[in-house]
Amino acid sequence: MTAAASPNTRIEPASHATSGSEVLIGGCPVSDLARQFGTPLYVLDQASLTGMARAYQAMLDTYPGESLVLFAAKAHCNMGLCQLMQQLDCGLDLVSGGEVHTARQAGFNLANTLFNGNNKSDDELAYALAHGVGLISVDNATELEQLARVAMANGRHATILLRVAPGIECHTHDYIKTGHLDSKFGFDLSQIDAALKTISTANSAGNSPVLTLAGLHAHIGSQIFELQPYQDLATTMLAEYERIRRQHGLVMTHIDLGGGLGIKYTEADDPPSVETLAGTLVKALVDACDAVQYPYPKLLIEPGRSMVATAGTTLYEIGSFKHIPQLDKTYVAVNGGMGDNIRVALYQAQYTARVATRINEPHTKPVALVGRYCESGDILFDRLLVPETIAPGDLLIVYGTGAYNASMASNYNRVPRPATVLVKDGQAQVLVKRETWDDMTRLDLPLRPV
Ligand code: LLP
Repeated sequence: MTAAASPNTRIEPASHATSGSEVLIGGCPVSDLARQFGTPLYVLDQASLTGMARAYQAMLDTYPGESLVLFAAKAHCNMGLCQLMQQLDCGLDLVSGGEVHTARQAGFNLANTLFNGNNKSDDELAYALAHGVGLISVDNATELEQLARVAMANGRHATILLRVAPGIECHTHDYIKTGHLDSKFGFDLSQIDAALKTISTANSAGNSPVLTLAGLHAHIGSQIFELQPYQDLATTMLAEYERIRRQHGLVMTHIDLGGGLGIKYTEADDPPSVETLAGTLVKALVDACDAVQYPYPKLLIEPGRSMVATAGTTLYEIGSFKHIPQLDKTYVAVNGGMGDNIRVALYQAQYTARVATRINEPHTKPVALVGRYCESGDILFDRLLVPETIAPGDLLIVYGTGAYNASMASNYNRVPRPATVLVKDGQAQVLVKRETWDDMTRLDLPLRPV
């Protein structure tokens, strides 16, 4: 890696620039993007996406065994992004039939995918097996029996990981280590032996084995800034690998340590760079393997947010103003809000935003920046500093919206969801078209007389 820290440590996307009064992303002036594609608009910066993928790959290059970055598609999923991830030599972590289908439609090599989830349906499992999804992460005992049944009924074989709850949990800045974990995801470590028994019973039921256990899988949380939990995760997991080898004579070939690395949404955030994470996570795993001479399992990681969040910005057009003289407060409304970014209302998430068409003016005037949805809670910023001259028609840019914005968007109020464009070197291409009012009624059926 170069000396520059990975994009997740910056607020703005890698190609962010200014010219006169205006912001450019990927060499495209925001007003051109707004004119050409309309607003609200999700803009993805290809340089940041490439930068993060390369940073993670450089991290995995420090590992002496095989490795693969699986982009967690739940953070942002569309066909073009899947294709870009394939070009960047990443695999995918998929969590639903819809995500598997998107990857398949994109021509993604499904051998490089992992299918996750705590309650997959028979249809989803059968679809994944039929189309060659490389690994299935089995979440619980019910699903283990279900997968054996579905694989057998379809004449398929599944290579699996067991999702475990290793007793390490992070809620952003709050790291707890517990003997047993209250989580809806994964096997408790005390249940692994029973799972191994289920696997061997299933494998001896037919003519040939239906399940091959490749390894264990854990994910400890999201928007994590601390390094210690990653170190503990690698150590705890390898201790379990060694126990299984000792007690069952089974050497596992893969290890999946999940995602979770945080990003810089605001100046208050100080996430570690991928380079720093490499020094902790990879080193802890290598040390743990070396200590017991365990053959290095193929290392899988599943970053979602950190791969795409900083690459993404949302452009809105400023619309109406409401001033309340008694409170000396101004509400400024944009033409999007909780429909395209539910994270503020849902998690009280904090973002950074600027007026992208007056970027050279001092941002000194405090306003409440609100959305266009019919709900009082549709407030993107309780207090945002904007230029005194802000006026209808200006563009607002919100940074860090590349993860869990488009993928969690809704049609609340029957507002069409924004388009997504990918920008690079002054070129913009549409990855997802803007929905139309007709799309709002596309699945509706007229009332039948009864
Ligand atoms: N692997 C598994 C098994 C996961 O459950 C997740 C995220 C990831 C990987 C990717 O984690 P990341 O690198 O993105 O932190 N909607 C929330 C985030 C939910 C994360 C769910 N699981 C948000 O908007 O903050």
